[in-house]
Amino acid sequence: MTILFVNACMRGEQSRTLQLCREYLEGAEDDVVEVDLAALDLKPFDAAMVAYRTEKQTAREWDDPIFALSRQFVEAEDIVIGAPYWDLSFPSALKIYLEYVSVCDLAFHYTEDARCEGICKARRLTYITTCGGFVEGANYGYEYFCGIAKMFGIPETRLVAAEGLDIVGIDVEARLDKAREQIAQLG
Ligand SMILES: Cc1cc2nc3c(=O)[nH]c(=O)nc-3n(C[C@H](O)[C@H](O)[C@H](O)COP(=O)(O)O)c2cc1C
Repeated sequence: MTILFVNACMRGEQSRTLQLCREYLEGAEDDVVEVDLAALDLKPFDAAMVAYRTEKQTAREWDDPIFALSRQFVEAEDIVIGAPYWDLSFPSALKIYLEYVSVCDLAFHYTEDARCEGICKARRLTYITTCGGFVEGANYGYEYFCGIAKMFGIPETRLVAAEGLDIVGIDVEARLDKAREQIAQLG
């Protein structure tokens, strides 16, 4: 099995979130394919891009490069999202990535009775984050991904979070160790 690792850790090698992601992925026996959003530097969808994609969608030209990130996500059996807690959620690069992934008739479709039904293959999505303060359950980034997983038909979502890392005087390594315990329990 292959894990798709969506890396939204914008601070690169300095990122504590990336550190946790790497530890999680090293413990997994599966191959890892990484999408590095800082390196990709995706452009947000504008009117011309929406029009172009709609044209390709209507023609069902799924081999067009505009669908490449969506096809990769849809085919992945296991997904890991690594994203620091920014402004109550996650870096905007991750939202832009979702604009590329969230394609009708690839990631989801509508049934004859007009229900939205997810058609992604992944059996689970693991969301790994670190936060400057104690967010006490208000992790809207993770909650948003729970909604996305539901929409895309991914049955299981899991959260690993190290909180309080920017609090003056806090033992950062101890906070990271708590997250490592969460990782160990995930199995
Ligand atoms: C742009 C930006 C926005 C942030 N917003 C929040 C926030 O809303 N709440 C919070 O507790 N910490 C916030 N932080 C702090 C980060 O969550 C914290 O430093 C995190 O550990 C960064 O992860 P990293 O080391 O992987 O980059 C923010 C940091 C940045 C750079």
